[in-house]
Amino acid sequence: MRKIVVTGSDEVSRAFSKSLSSLLGAELCEPTYKTFPDGEKYLRLDCNISGAEVIYVKTMIPAQDSSIVEAVLAADAIKASGAERLVMIAPYMAYARQDRQFLAGEPVSIRAVLKALWTSGFSALATVEVHKAESLRHFPGPSLNVRPYSFMADQIGLKGSDIVVISPDLGALERAKTLAEHLGVSYDYLEKSRDRLTGNITIKPKEVSVEGKHVVIVDDIISTGSTIASAVAMLSSQGARGFTILVAHAILAPGAEERLRSVGITKIYAANTTPSTSNIVTNIDVAPLVASELRSSGIISQP
Ligand code: R5P
Repeated sequence: MRKIVVTGSDEVSRAFSKSLSSLLGAELCEPTYKTFPDGEKYLRLDCNISGAEVIYVKTMIPAQDSSIVEAVLAADAIKASGAERLVMIAPYMAYARQDRQFLAGEPVSIRAVLKALWTSGFSALATVEVHKAESLRHFPGPSLNVRPYSFMADQIGLKGSDIVVISPDLGALERAKTLAEHLGVSYDYLEKSRDRLTGNITIKPKEVSVEGKHVVIVDDIISTGSTIASAVAMLSSQGARGFTILVAHAILAPGAEERLRSVGITKIYAANTTPSTSNIVTNIDVAPLVASELRSSGIISQP
């Protein structure tokens, strides 16, 4: 089936779309996007997509709500223009951390968002390292979570027998395990608890032997930077001799960069799923990994 990659409006989605279209041998369609004076969005497709398999690329970056609305509008336009099949690629999937009711009366936000995407007309979905891969079960069609850490480590030439891979909490241990097995080194996790009402984080020391080690910290997202900054501060005090920070998504909320620099972090490696807002972040292009997994998983049709 003829394949067409349709770009989302922002620069990250545009760049990702261009890489993917070239890697997949697909045509590229760049709709016209604009925002009305009252804030409502508008888009217009001026490509012939009739009968094609359309791969729509939109990273769900801030303002996340606006990104979601754009995807819903794009799905409507793409289906109305006669696409045979519509696949959503969200390099960053927003609302993924509210993946259950922590307090009575809350929504399961990721479920609501995935249902909205499905209802809009997307029949398959792929994303880069959603907060919890199991959340994708809320999307009724086929879905793919691309875990990028091993690919990223290879891209930056990370290796060495003195490495320990650490995840900031037990929930993220699988991330550390995947990378540690790839590198042939040991891994562990830190105990972390977050007060759901105040948002304050406590990290309790865990029995990790980081004395004289180079510590690779892996996490899905940096938002306020508190998790990574606390981990680095604690592990430094336990004798770690250096750090590499690998995250899928560097969102960097206001104050995050200062928080990270305050504990001596000068570089973060992040996938190219979110905008570069700081020179503390070095982006790694994971589009080749996504293209490869899209093909092997069957999320897109075979040529
Ligand atoms: C938490 O479960 C996540 O995996 C991240 O560790 C967390 O969301 C990072 O947020 P922040 O940078 O605000 O500490």
